[in-house]
Amino acid sequence: MTTDELVVHGGRPLRGRLRVPGDKGISHRALLAGALADGVTTIDHLAPGDDVARTAGAIEALGARVEREPDRVVVNARGDHSLQEPAEEIDCGNSGTTMRMLAGLLAGRSFRSVLTGDESLTRRPMGRVIRPLRALGAHIDGADDGTRAPLVIEPSELHGARVALDVASGQVKTALILAGLRAHGTTEIVEPAPSRDHTERLFAAIGAPVERVDDRTTRVRAGVLHPFELDVPGDPSSAAFLVVAALISPGSELVLEDVLLNPGRVAFVEILRAMGAHIGVRPHGERLGEPVGDLEIRSSPLHGATIHCTEPIVDEVPALAVAGAFADGITEIRDAAELRVKESDRIATLEQELTELGVGIEATRDGLLIRGGQPRPSTLKSHGDHRIALAAAVAANAVAGESRIRGWKSVEVSYPGFAADLASLTQQ
Ligand code: S3P
Repeated sequence: MTTDELVVHGGRPLRGRLRVPGDKGISHRALLAGALADGVTTIDHLAPGDDVARTAGAIEALGARVEREPDRVVVNARGDHSLQEPAEEIDCGNSGTTMRMLAGLLAGRSFRSVLTGDESLTRRPMGRVIRPLRALGAHIDGADDGTRAPLVIEPSELHGARVALDVASGQVKTALILAGLRAHGTTEIVEPAPSRDHTERLFAAIGAPVERVDDRTTRVRAGVLHPFELDVPGDPSSAAFLVVAALISPGSELVLEDVLLNPGRVAFVEILRAMGAHIGVRPHGERLGEPVGDLEIRSSPLHGATIHCTEPIVDEVPALAVAGAFADGITEIRDAAELRVKESDRIATLEQELTELGVGIEATRDGLLIRGGQPRPSTLKSHGDHRIALAAAVAANAVAGESRIRGWKSVEVSYPGFAADLASLTQQ
């Protein structure tokens, strides 16, 4: 069990090689696809952590068999039509991805289901997935006039339609793809901007009738999924924290092996390079449609930059804000209103924690203005948000002296082994 306070003895470089945990987004998708397939699906290096465990628990509640071996999960299912009514409400914990994607998988079935979550998840917007699913004929509702969890999904039949999403969201698009596989006719999903495309890549690789018409439009026809074998590449969103830790801790030389290099997920690398970072990218293969390779990082003096927050870096802003805190000059993060509805209001929580470290930082309506400098050791808080806890640990590691991070347990949702990985690289 992770302790709830992490003590960091900062001022140490990161040296060595490491494989970060498997990608969280691909892990959720692989479990859901495995549950819909008829046969045995094998997933190696599934993401650890509570978020993905919630999705695994959900597919078990629906009748799939999930065997957990070290570094391997085996899903044994009997195809879409064999999914059963869950005996009780499905608790998605802290995982917005579990809840939004399951909403699509459970819409238009012959049975009723209810999706609940923790206090943070109950505050997050769900209208963005409820409205488009209704356009396919789903009978789905949520608290607060259909805008929040818990979600209640009643039996119905689905029909294909052309649906325009309100927000660019890989989670919502995936929900619509999962529903579209069961709808009569063709479903077309149109997004206001491109979002991550793991579902399209995985489903195309296993022969499902999902195609990208262009970078904002996805077409789905009714069809079945086949079982598959996948070794999940390392999570770039977890890697981003170690990348920034190495960049801002002088004397660091780090190689992160086998990281997912999907262009929609490694946009943070280009942003950091523009700030002066030395990061080498060495592609070496592909896994079911996803490019994979190594990242080589050397500590580098950084300078401030203006960063526009688009979907491809939405999860990396906490790490980039820490980079800005250690950079020379001003870093401005713009267009980041979406951060206010993540696991915490990340604009507010980053402002609070970076201020605590002695960084000049100001929250704007949809972003942050960060005056880089010389942060000092401090006692920081996670606000129950895994990425805020990780950002705090990365900053603390780069300042000489002892810092503490309270609420460290929140890292269990995505990267439970972070403290051990950081300690092994800094030889603590
Ligand atoms: C995810 C999409 C993003 C991201 C989340 C994972 C996904 O959320 O923040 O961590 O796996 O599709 P949105 O879909 O809300 O942008």
